[in-house]
Amino acid sequence: MGEDLVLYRDLSGNYGLVDKHCPHRRADLAFGFVEECGIRCSYHGWQFDQTGACVQQPFEDTVAPESTFKEKIRIKAYPVEAKAGLLWAYLGPDPVPLVPNWEPFTWENGFRQIVFSVVPCNWFQDQENSIDPIHFEWQHSNWRVRATGETGPYTPKHLKIDFEEFDYGISYKRIREDTDENNPLWTVGRNCLWPNSLFTGEHFEWRVPIDDENMLSVGWFFNPLPQDRRPYVQEEIPSWEGPVVDAEGEWITSHVMNQDFAAWVGQGAIADRTKEHLGRSDRGVIMMRKRFEDDLAKLKVGNEDPKAVVRDPAVNSCIKLPLFDRDYLIQGPTRDLLADAEHPRTRSMLNFVFQAGQPPDVREAYVEAMGF
Ligand code: FES
Ligand SMILES: [Fe+2]
Repeated sequence: MGEDLVLYRDLSGNYGLVDKHCPHRRADLAFGFVEECGIRCSYHGWQFDQTGACVQQPFEDTVAPESTFKEKIRIKAYPVEAKAGLLWAYLGPDPVPLVPNWEPFTWENGFRQIVFSVVPCNWFQDQENSIDPIHFEWQHSNWRVRATGETGPYTPKHLKIDFEEFDYGISYKRIREDTDENNPLWTVGRNCLWPNSLFTGEHFEWRVPIDDENMLSVGWFFNPLPQDRRPYVQEEIPSWEGPVVDAEGEWITSHVMNQDFAAWVGQGAIADRTKEHLGRSDRGVIMMRKRFEDDLAKLKVGNEDPKAVVRDPAVNSCIKLPLFDRDYLIQGPTRDLLADAEHPRTRSMLNFVFQAGQPPDVREAYVEAMGF
């Protein structure tokens, strides 16, 4: 969000997120000491709690214990909450809303992993991809055909697409030459989540704005464990950084999300919408832009929440999303399914297809958990 911040965990285990610069004489709090309560600047020892209050000024406290100087000092501080292996910060106005408790965060018996990549372009064009069914055919399926050196045959064409808005986003639905109106790709679809996420069922992709021209991609992936590997408790959720370019500085395009990154960066640091020509394939993008404009108007007036803000703890005990493979994701694969190496589910389970660069120790932990 264009701010330089310091994230810490204090000696009591509480997280804090504060301005990078100390309000005394601007030293970098990344060098600070964590204390029982909050963080202390390493330069002259001023200490701040997680709400941003200055709780100690050692020299001032010694020479002028009666002074109220401390009470006038605050550092910018944001609330942080740990959930699903991630730290979530809220950088908006009060009252602070809840961190959505999406249903997959509540699932058991799964192997989860988190992948971070910095993508050098604006987050909004990346989020437009979350509502773009046609790109699957070209940027992924047909690209794979061409990457093998073949010029065809191409994969089944899209024949029809539709979009349906719901409380937390927009579902997109499609019929291809090889599917019909009974296929879950049409009856349920996939989901663009508000304001910055894609949810496909077994994974989320968040497009987190770093600044206007850089985005942090955060992928959260869930693999249900085979039925005969249960019960399973994952002690620690591994996270890793996915490279976007190779040793020669060329864009990596071997994996699904890497192909997406190449498309988004190719649009320019901030895609120039004045030079676009939107077609019938872009109906979802248009819906999304319109909803964002409506939300921005609401924020300006300030008396109404934008879409998908969660405030009701009862609702947040578990937020269900449109999902067509719930039974499979909860129950997990059978040995029979795993024995069928050609089944698309098995194929995507054997190797991590989403991003290049999975570290060997994460791969080993996965293989061990799955019992491959
Ligand atoms: S600059 Fe931080 S205490 Fe002086
Ligand atoms: Fe994609």
